Amino acid sequence: MALDTALLERTAPLYERVARVIPRVEWPTMAGDVDAILRLKRERNAIILAHNYQSPEIFHCVADVVGDSLALARRAMDVDADVIVLAGVHFMAETAKLLNPSKTVLIPDMGAGCSLADSITAADIRLLRQRYPGVPVITYVNTSADVKAESDICCTSGNARAVVESLGVPRVIMLPDEYLAQNIARETSVEIITWAGHCEVHEQFTPQDIAQLRESHPGIVVLAHPECPPEVVEAADFAGSTAMLSDYVEQRKPPRVVLLTECSMSDNVAVHHPEVDFIRPCNLCPHMKRITLANIRQALETGRHEVTVDPAVAERARLAVERMLAV
Ligand code: 13P
Ligand code: SF4
Repeated sequence: MALDTALLERTAPLYERVARVIPRVEWPTMAGDVDAILRLKRERNAIILAHNYQSPEIFHCVADVVGDSLALARRAMDVDADVIVLAGVHFMAETAKLLNPSKTVLIPDMGAGCSLADSITAADIRLLRQRYPGVPVITYVNTSADVKAESDICCTSGNARAVVESLGVPRVIMLPDEYLAQNIARETSVEIITWAGHCEVHEQFTPQDIAQLRESHPGIVVLAHPECPPEVVEAADFAGSTAMLSDYVEQRKPPRVVLLTECSMSDNVAVHHPEVDFIRPCNLCPHMKRITLANIRQALETGRHEVTVDPAVAERARLAVERMLAV
């Protein structure tokens, strides 16, 4: 196929943003979609919110807003474009819809789920409330709107401890991520009742991985997401939400670092830090990776797939998210 030189010239400044992490030879396969997405965003008055785990060509070349779950939720509230395309997973799109219900919210692939969100149902929470009467339920945002609707308040990995302590009670239920709950329990005197949900990406990291990294790369700084098992977080130098990991690199500029989280994080952060050596054992999130330039373009062309939430559920779920944002 002949190369479209005008297209390549037009998109050359965009390629320069990702030149450190995407081989030049691959750009011609992306340039057409990137160019079309930028045009379609203008035509549809659309905005793209992208999570930190999105691939660099999405994160750096077509997204309008990037960040962790908390930042995306906050920004979704004040979007005034007509259409929000959520380049992330389904619960993130639902959260955007809850917070800005008059907008059309699209997700490019309805199958972009989350093992944590799949680990618990609204009925499970009703049973927990019977078992622990009066104990408040804190729900990680990585859950369906149905589950949020049964909860007192939501949290993200960026504010979980603050949310737990904001309630002023000695005991809380925090679900569905057992490891996040255990990691927060180590930082607070509040007793935390957990649920046995796990992130299929972060549960794979082990303390042995860290020991090997420290042996083969002396002086390496190990950063972990708090969805990792507690023994991994304990062996790491720092743990925090995806935004907190990114900020750590930005502020401390460690000469050599590893991010124990989803693979695209290192690529996205590395783009801004040529001076930092990123060592890259990582795990792919198959759900996040369902989102591609091709299906973002298709979403903007066809208006599919629209994310909706039953209004009765939405009203209760929104309360739980808004309480979190007020902390
Ligand atoms: P953050 O809120 O830290 O971005 O995490 C979201 C997520 O899905 C991590 O696996
Ligand atoms: Fe869910 Fe884990 Fe993927 Fe995050 S990385 S979306 S928690 S499966």
